[in-house]
Amino acid sequence: MAFKKMWLNINGANRMFACDPVKDSLADVLRRLGLTSVKVGCGIGVCGSCTVLLNGELVRSCARKMARIDEYSEVVTVEGIGTPTNLHPVQVAFMNNGAVQCGFCTPGFIVSTYALLLKNNNPTREDVREWFQKHKNVCRCTGYKQIVDAVMDAAKVVRGEATIEDIKVKLPEDKEYYGKPLVRPTSLAKVCGLADYGDDQELKMPSETYHVAMVQPRLAHHAKILRIDKEEAEKMPGVAKIITAADLKAAGGSNVMAEANFHERSTVRIPSRKVLAEDKIYRYGDVVALAVADTKEHARAAAAKVKVEIEKLPEYLNFLEAAMPDAMRIHEDTPNIFCKQPVLKGVGLDEPSKVAEVIEEAPYSVEGSFYSSREPHLSIEGDSVQAYFDEDGYLTFQCKSQGVYSSISRIGNCLGVPTSKLRVMMNPTGASFGWSTNAGDLCLAGAAAVVMQAPIALSMSYEEHQHFSGKRCPCHSNGRLACDDNGKIIAAEFDFGLDHGAYSWGGDDCFTKQARFAFFPYTIPNVAGLCRVANTNHNFGTAYRSYGSPQAYTLSEALMDMLAERAGIDPFEFRWRNIGRPGDTNINSYPFRQYPMEEMMKIMKPYYEKAVAEAKANDTPEKRRGVGLAWGGFNVTEGGTDKASAAIELNPDETFTKYDTYQELGQGGDIGSLMLTLEALKPLGVTPDMIKLVQNDTKLCPDSGMSGASRTHYMSGKATMAAAEQLINAMKKPDGTYRTYDEMKSEGIPTKYTGSWSCTSVDGLCRLDPNTGIGDPSPSYTYCLNLAEVEVDTATGKTTVVRFTCVDDVGKVGNLAAVNGQAFGGISHSIGFALSEIYEDVKRHTNIASCGVPYIKDIPDVINVIHYERPDEVGPFGSSGASEAFQSSGHVAVLNAIYNACGVRIHEIPATPAKVKAGLDAIAAGRKPEVPAKYFLGSDLYEELEDIKANPVKYEGEPDFFRSLGGSTSEKFF
Ligand code: FES
Ligand code: FES
Repeated sequence: MAFKKMWLNINGANRMFACDPVKDSLADVLRRLGLTSVKVGCGIGVCGSCTVLLNGELVRSCARKMARIDEYSEVVTVEGIGTPTNLHPVQVAFMNNGAVQCGFCTPGFIVSTYALLLKNNNPTREDVREWFQKHKNVCRCTGYKQIVDAVMDAAKVVRGEATIEDIKVKLPEDKEYYGKPLVRPTSLAKVCGLADYGDDQELKMPSETYHVAMVQPRLAHHAKILRIDKEEAEKMPGVAKIITAADLKAAGGSNVMAEANFHERSTVRIPSRKVLAEDKIYRYGDVVALAVADTKEHARAAAAKVKVEIEKLPEYLNFLEAAMPDAMRIHEDTPNIFCKQPVLKGVGLDEPSKVAEVIEEAPYSVEGSFYSSREPHLSIEGDSVQAYFDEDGYLTFQCKSQGVYSSISRIGNCLGVPTSKLRVMMNPTGASFGWSTNAGDLCLAGAAAVVMQAPIALSMSYEEHQHFSGKRCPCHSNGRLACDDNGKIIAAEFDFGLDHGAYSWGGDDCFTKQARFAFFPYTIPNVAGLCRVANTNHNFGTAYRSYGSPQAYTLSEALMDMLAERAGIDPFEFRWRNIGRPGDTNINSYPFRQYPMEEMMKIMKPYYEKAVAEAKANDTPEKRRGVGLAWGGFNVTEGGTDKASAAIELNPDETFTKYDTYQELGQGGDIGSLMLTLEALKPLGVTPDMIKLVQNDTKLCPDSGMSGASRTHYMSGKATMAAAEQLINAMKKPDGTYRTYDEMKSEGIPTKYTGSWSCTSVDGLCRLDPNTGIGDPSPSYTYCLNLAEVEVDTATGKTTVVRFTCVDDVGKVGNLAAVNGQAFGGISHSIGFALSEIYEDVKRHTNIASCGVPYIKDIPDVINVIHYERPDEVGPFGSSGASEAFQSSGHVAVLNAIYNACGVRIHEIPATPAKVKAGLDAIAAGRKPEVPAKYFLGSDLYEELEDIKANPVKYEGEPDFFRSLGGSTSEKFF
């Protein structure tokens, strides 16, 4: 390795440094020089997060080697564009248009925008979209629209047509903040490149920190481990140790991650996941050892020298394969199908097969089989964790986590450190969308810190992260639906086979979503359904926005369209006839908690009619136009035993500190907490600058629960109200005025109050009966009615979504920009899910581009989101939840629109150009497009339902533990 001394002119100043011109990229050098605004996401030139200006041209600096850069070249990064005290208009525009969510892509977008406006300060929206498409700037959070809005605002300032003040969000003078688009507190650091994400934290760790690289053999999906040979690796330069499961056990850890399988029908008896694989590899991304060294490069070099000998076992890569009668058990303690949940209603409750009779005798019926794919989350930032023992002896993790407390539960005793001595805190986080609900990365980092008794840093390459992190569960399903002569649905039948991958944890929760959201929010009198979940050897299933429900809608919203057509009824009208109305019940035999459906359809109607008319007018043989609808929705909270706490403290300078674990992953954990606190403390006349947020550190903050299940705003909002009420009461004087901090102290009145709230205070909640599927598990719901307008190119089969409209009910909007961010972002993921996203071929699907992430031109610029804003009866200040529903069913609206456009119904997503073209070719040849035959899901549906009826399990209602995604349920096994 030969180093070279070089000079670059960086942000106007000449800087000298040494580098390896062959190995080092421009991004490496800039980051070493402290310019950590240059974020490395993909590392291979496909995401744009590392974009800088080099001699006036945009480059993706991760892909530009120093050998190709001349001395004294001019480089501009965000640090050279604007600073917190002297912001550039582009930075101000991004902050004030909701264009910054997780912020990981933001420096790249700002540099890209800066370059665009230097070339063209009067771009059209389409110019802006072309520019970001050309320069491969990807944002996975926003859905892009707000970014284009921001560029248009910045351009006005650059042209002198507006001032910076003109483009700022104005604070309301009446202090009525709730519902307004206040700027996120964390956005200033993000637009200036000063937010230090995981890899930035690693660079800034003390010098005694060890670096850890994973030994992820990637040899097979299923295999016995015969031997791990670490001899050569241990002799590599700088290596401190190669850690295997034996080392962790010798240090006192169990090496087994805590699990909670709560469902009465679950056959899982032994926790399925180990920290470091010992005897078997269950999936391609399993890790067998950790290489610990003085530098990252040394650790990686050593990891590559660990030899792993295996004996391959049969690989079952989807539900259908794992459910075959001759398939071997993947985990010895349980059959591959490890849990089942029936859904029986009407005649199905007494005799399930009667539902089949109703369907077969109905005037109109349809049937179909569908596949919902293994959707990858594709956050731009990968995975990076630091672990060390803090000054009080806590094993401390700096990481990305959807639930800092639930991560502790998930770690359990696998590291041999009592959970009371674990501390989890979040780094600034480049999004997750659900994958960081799982603490496997923390367990690896913790294992290294425990074995070494030293601080460590673990940073995965994007490819390693891609194979290590869980994915949305794929699902095969069969279904039938029938209606009477008036288009009223009279019966539904469904059978879902959920592929939960290599590990079981969460599977018996995820599959209850199909049992609740199939045919939501319609009313159907007779139902016979079954949800099954199986282990396979593909990547494990984990949370993803709208967890478990898109799989349901893939079947039910397709069947709704198919039945409407069969009955000769317009699909909008057919849905109108069948939505739930007061007095109607859902498929779980309970009344809906709310009935916004009619009002939402009334709001949607003119948009639908306009879309249909425009599709007709613009339809040509070359470019077919179509319109598709899909109802969607999701639960709010984790159910009847969900709980949350938050604390508020009065400070000596009469400001307030709010403590909570409203995890900020880009969705707005910072602004959500701020809005709630402002509203809860409104009697005190507080302003945003009077509230300091201390968040997401288990040592400092009470447990507000996980950021998932659309629960955080709702649950931590109620806890915030409880804390604020106590504080306000304590501050209140007999004359109605409020005590100062000094007065509180002199009277000996505490200045800090913790508030808590639990769903146990909501009447009548009960989870699904494992024998019938009857139940009412959530206090509130979010609702979405989606309308997609597409154009299908008949020459190529390529589908383009030209406009998307969503009418939602998320209760009262808390922060307009944050809710819109969830809406646009969720819709963009839905479009990707429908058309391109995939994680199946582990050799090919290694980065965001090969996995089909939508670039800006894949997402329409026109996205209408209309908030119905029915005040929620229970939620804080009338809000319910505002995330999951936006990604529940939009994908089926797109698929239905494709059918409407060209007659090709896609049963197995994604709807790639090749699949659509094959359907078009079949139609052109006078054949019917191919559809999948009914899937074999392990047994006959009705035999299975009869067996469940004959063998009921004991149902005790709500368990007395926090049952869902973490909480304290882990004790079940330990
Ligand atoms: Fe450089 Fe993705 S393009 S990190
Ligand atoms: Fe763009 Fe998160 S804000 S990736």
